[in-house]
Amino acid sequence: MAQTVFAPWDDPNEKPLIQFKNVTKRFGEFIAIDDLTQDIYSKEFFALLGPSGCGKTTMMRILAGFETPTEGQILISGQDMSHVPPNKRAVNMMFQSYALFPHLSVWDNIAFGLKREGKDKDTIAARVEEMLRLTRLDRFAKRKPHQISGGQRQRVALARSLAKAPKLLLLDEPLGALDKKLRQDTQFELMDIQEKTGTTFVIVTHDQEEAMTVASRVAVMDEGKIVQVATPDEIYEAPNSIYVADFIGDVNLIEGRAEARMSPATPRDQIEPTTTPDPEGAPPPPAKPDAPQPNAYGEWLQNTLLFPFLGKRAPNPKELPAPSETKPTPALQSPVKTGGIALHWADGHPPIVVANGDPQLAGAAVTLALRPEKLNIAKNKPDTPNALPGTVIDIGYLGNLSTYHVQLDNGPMVKVQVTNVRRIARRDITWEDAVWVSFSETSGVVLKG
Ligand SMILES: Nc1ncnc2c1ncn2[C@@H]1O[C@H](COP(=O)(O)OP(=O)(O)OP(=O)(O)O)[C@@H](O)[C@H]1O
Ligand SMILES: [Mg+2]
Repeated sequence: MAQTVFAPWDDPNEKPLIQFKNVTKRFGEFIAIDDLTQDIYSKEFFALLGPSGCGKTTMMRILAGFETPTEGQILISGQDMSHVPPNKRAVNMMFQSYALFPHLSVWDNIAFGLKREGKDKDTIAARVEEMLRLTRLDRFAKRKPHQISGGQRQRVALARSLAKAPKLLLLDEPLGALDKKLRQDTQFELMDIQEKTGTTFVIVTHDQEEAMTVASRVAVMDEGKIVQVATPDEIYEAPNSIYVADFIGDVNLIEGRAEARMSPATPRDQIEPTTTPDPEGAPPPPAKPDAPQPNAYGEWLQNTLLFPFLGKRAPNPKELPAPSETKPTPALQSPVKTGGIALHWADGHPPIVVANGDPQLAGAAVTLALRPEKLNIAKNKPDTPNALPGTVIDIGYLGNLSTYHVQLDNGPMVKVQVTNVRRIARRDITWEDAVWVSFSETSGVVLKG
């Protein structure tokens, strides 16, 4: 069954919940946010990724109202936020260094914001109980922050920020203090909470795996700008720049010069006219059933009418040369489809074939980004176009995976990741071995520069 895909950003009728419109934030001369324009939709789990100091926290603080943009505009639900103070926005922010009140119990920490809002006692109690259940903290309600674990404290901070039922929750490194296992558990809890409450989350994280797990979309930032916004799989499979490819996951970057592979002399309409035979040698279409078979009719004519005068008929020439042999169509005979680019990457080696490369890059210096898990490694040269020779320098064993570091002949070092399907890794490839690294024509992404 087809699942409905959550992609409001693709729906022109959908109104964004948050709009950054040409927002710039300067601290003195320093530009922390640089002319940023971005829409975020209701119920999104929007992840901000980027190196330290690129402006993630600043972007959130502007959204929450703790900073005012130097230029530009922020809209929430279509309303300009310029003159709306933080406490009047339907936004809550869980800070990078969340601070619980040490003298208050877990229960009172969660109730704090609601009390300040002057809500009545019963409403507060009901809401706190609900938050405790949601974050699975019921058992710890009476304890003080120092009497619970770091992970539990972080969940209290989360419960506290959810208590006021904000339309929008900003989480700045919310899981930073947790170990890997608890972090993963909490990620799923967060997604669960989001589903149950319908809150829109904007989350900052240093952990790209976390961003990929929780996010509907990931924004990669650099120096106050968003470089790319896309779904996790898109940003991984189709990064728009070397910066993004390098920032998200492990990647091999092979530099070279692009050449278009579609020869202008053989455009598609010339190589595939209706009379061109099938390159696979498929039989011609059968004749109409009511037409006499040429051979049968010839036979009849011969036997009944012409035999007395001409004698026995010479046998038919059985095999005519295939028309394709008389009229070569190089594009069709090539084992590789046309299109894309050829990447000249090292002297003395055939170019790398990249079927999904943009032919308009012809002549340009480009970089092929290849994920390590898309590469194969073998001792014998495989019968594929993209097979590059090299030497194994190092092998990293990670239990479920092995990573081979291969120094390509005349080229860069690449990483090849192999899943260890068998219990004992078949170590037929080892250090110093001469190997072939291969990959398909569509495994990589060609990036400018
Ligand atoms: N109040 C301020 N005055 C001057 N500069 C500031 C101020 N706040 C932030 N900056 C600068 O703006 C830039 C962006 O800071 P920000 O806190 O947004 O980074 P970040 O992406 O959250 O980094 P991290 O991942 O380290 O938390 C940094 O270079 C920082 O030094
Ligand atoms: Mg920060």
